[in-house]
Amino acid sequence: MPEYRTPNDSEENAVSQDHSFRLDGAAIVVTGASSGIGAEIARTLGASGARVLLVGRDEQRLHASEAAVRATGAEAASLALDVCGADAPERVVAVAREQLGDLTGLVHAAGIFEPTPFAATADECLDRQWEVNVRAPFRLTRAAVPHLTEGASVTFVSSIAGHVGFPNSTAYCATKGAVELLVKSLAVELAPGGVRVNAVAPGNVRTSINAHLLADPDYHRQMLAATPAGRIGEVEDIAPAVAYLASPAAAYVQGVSLLVDGGWAAQ
Ligand SMILES: NC(=O)c1ccc[n+]([C@@H]2O[C@H](COP(=O)([O-])OP(=O)(O)OC[C@H]3O[C@@H](n4cnc5c(N)ncnc54)[C@H](OP(=O)(O)O)[C@@H]3O)[C@@H](O)[C@H]2O)c1
Repeated sequence: MPEYRTPNDSEENAVSQDHSFRLDGAAIVVTGASSGIGAEIARTLGASGARVLLVGRDEQRLHASEAAVRATGAEAASLALDVCGADAPERVVAVAREQLGDLTGLVHAAGIFEPTPFAATADECLDRQWEVNVRAPFRLTRAAVPHLTEGASVTFVSSIAGHVGFPNSTAYCATKGAVELLVKSLAVELAPGGVRVNAVAPGNVRTSINAHLLADPDYHRQMLAATPAGRIGEVEDIAPAVAYLASPAAAYVQGVSLLVDGGWAAQ
């Protein structure tokens, strides 16, 4: 078992002087950065001053995302791999350290969503979603923790599906529910070592994960009707919440899941 440092008396009462929302000097790995929410998170972190390593499978889209980060003036690198690979955690950490040096943050945005009625959900469908949504970030966090600096952050992209139930999405909801408790458990265990662990839980956000569903006018109508804010979310709605949680401004925020859902889960 790793042993984590506990704060001494003077540190216990110390309040960080820097509560900036900026991320200058930060070095952050973002998985799922080749599209959607992860790509926008990478761009926003870069625009806030961070250096970013983008991770995803699709090389072409990954490079386009990397170019968007660079266009903000930030340094960026990318690594194309399947986060479920046996040696993926060690490879990500090795490349991150080589490209960025000491790591100040990790954002888990890679995820898959395979809506299926419960009775028709095959074991393989459950296993695939568990692998990407839970097992991969669990393993990558474990590999990264020894290389995270004091004050570093780990941020998971959870979902409203980790807070409330949905029909035809039982396996996905189970994975996001697991993410919610993974965040709390890690937050409690890693806080004494100076690492903060939190989640952002998006509502319905227009990306390739649900484009086929939102293309159905009935589905679109149902989603709008269930969203108090009266619109489907955009990736730009989500990324600033992740940037906040990664920043010194969130120095005392530990173990939360920040819903960014237009009020969906408040009902
Ligand atoms: N959109 C929503 O309404 C919504 C709502 C709540 C939560 N979320 C969560 O937000 C996160 C991002 O989803 P999104 O909506 O932005 O969907 P997306 O556009 O489909 O993005 C998913 C990302 O995950 C990556 N990914 C998937 N499997 C991977 C694997 N095995 N190895 C490496 N990368 C992998 C994809 O990379 P490649 O394409 O390169 O493989 C892509 O970059 C997910 O965790 C999702 O559950 C989304």
